[in-house]
Amino acid sequence: MKLLVTGGCGFIGSRFVRLLLEERPTVRIVVLDKLTYAGNLANLAGVLSHPSFSFVKGDICDADSVRQALGGGVDAIVNFAAETHVDRSILDSERFLATDVLGTRVLLEAARELRSCLFLQVSTDEVYGDVRPGHSSREDDRVAPRSPYAASKASADLLVLAYAATYSVPVLITRGSNTYGPYQFPEKIIPLFITNLIDDLPVPLYGDGMHERDWLHVDDHARGILEVLERGRPGEVYNLGGGNAQRNYDVTLRLIELCGRAAKTHLQHVAERPGHDRRYSLDCSKATSLGWAPKIAFERGLRETVTWYRNNEPWWRPLKSREFAEYYRRQYATRQTL
Ligand code: NAD
Ligand code: TYD
Repeated sequence: MKLLVTGGCGFIGSRFVRLLLEERPTVRIVVLDKLTYAGNLANLAGVLSHPSFSFVKGDICDADSVRQALGGGVDAIVNFAAETHVDRSILDSERFLATDVLGTRVLLEAARELRSCLFLQVSTDEVYGDVRPGHSSREDDRVAPRSPYAASKASADLLVLAYAATYSVPVLITRGSNTYGPYQFPEKIIPLFITNLIDDLPVPLYGDGMHERDWLHVDDHARGILEVLERGRPGEVYNLGGGNAQRNYDVTLRLIELCGRAAKTHLQHVAERPGHDRRYSLDCSKATSLGWAPKIAFERGLRETVTWYRNNEPWWRPLKSREFAEYYRRQYATRQTL
């Protein structure tokens, strides 16, 4: 089987590529990645010279780059490529619409030209918007995104389903929950807080911190996507949740403890994120009926993630300088402390 994996140099995409090369000896993979601030070839360091792996630097919005990466054709396209950070989408949504929506359209056109090419869109639980207490989103719930990031992902999901209905492209969509683990860019809450704490800096918790997220380890997420790719029914959407609902406040306290710091000195309550969804929760019975289930308990996963960031400073320290330092200043310097 030959796959085009877009965004394969990012956090989840690189885990998916490494998993496939470890466990599917007959697979051949081409990664197409623009190497934005979030893309990093170091995430694939162990497989760059693997005989079944090749890399094309390019933008999914550019049909020529996509054609070059497809070469003589592939059996499936797995689309991880996206702008992914909610806070950045609030500062400036343009790139989100370009990559997440229009880039997805370019890939769908390519899949359509190839005819029987399977198209798997990696999406997010954020497309369901704020989920009322007691409810878990099912795949047939309406999408109700509330951030520019979530709106761009929901738009892409609708386009993917439209290509299935209109042009009979065989498509699959996965909607994963908040993911954590090694190699996550240190802008998302868990790696940002761990790396700040290692550096003896405070951690900025938005609002009252009672927002609930369902945490999924990156290994479980990558495995879930593979399960859906291999066993999912074309035309269907599959939720992939961790079954680890946690309030941000509790995650923050645990990280402070694991990093050997104190809440009194290191927890900083700061101004709320605009449009901040209070709760996400997924009903994953469709994916579990395929045989998938998350395996990594949150406490173990969090402990191992803290250890990984402690042991891999050469990986993350350069990422927190330059562009990130400027972003951090824009995002946090003027944020009111509560
Ligand atoms: P990431 O930000 O770590 O990586 C994104 C990758 O896409 C990077 O390698 C980047 O260089 C590449 N990219 C961005 N724009 C591109 C373009 N125009 N052309 C080619 N490559 C481009 O993202 P991630 O956290 O690994 O997320 C991967 C996918 O999973 C995304 O589609 C995201 O919406 C989805 N998702 C993420 C989470 C999460 O918690 N991280 C949860 C559910 C779903
Ligand atoms: P994040 O990691 O940005 O993922 P997402 O917005 O995609 O869920 O944020 C996870 C939660 O953590 C979310 O409720 C916002 C909150 N958060 C903070 O409180 N402070 C921060 O500095 C960040 C980045 C996030």
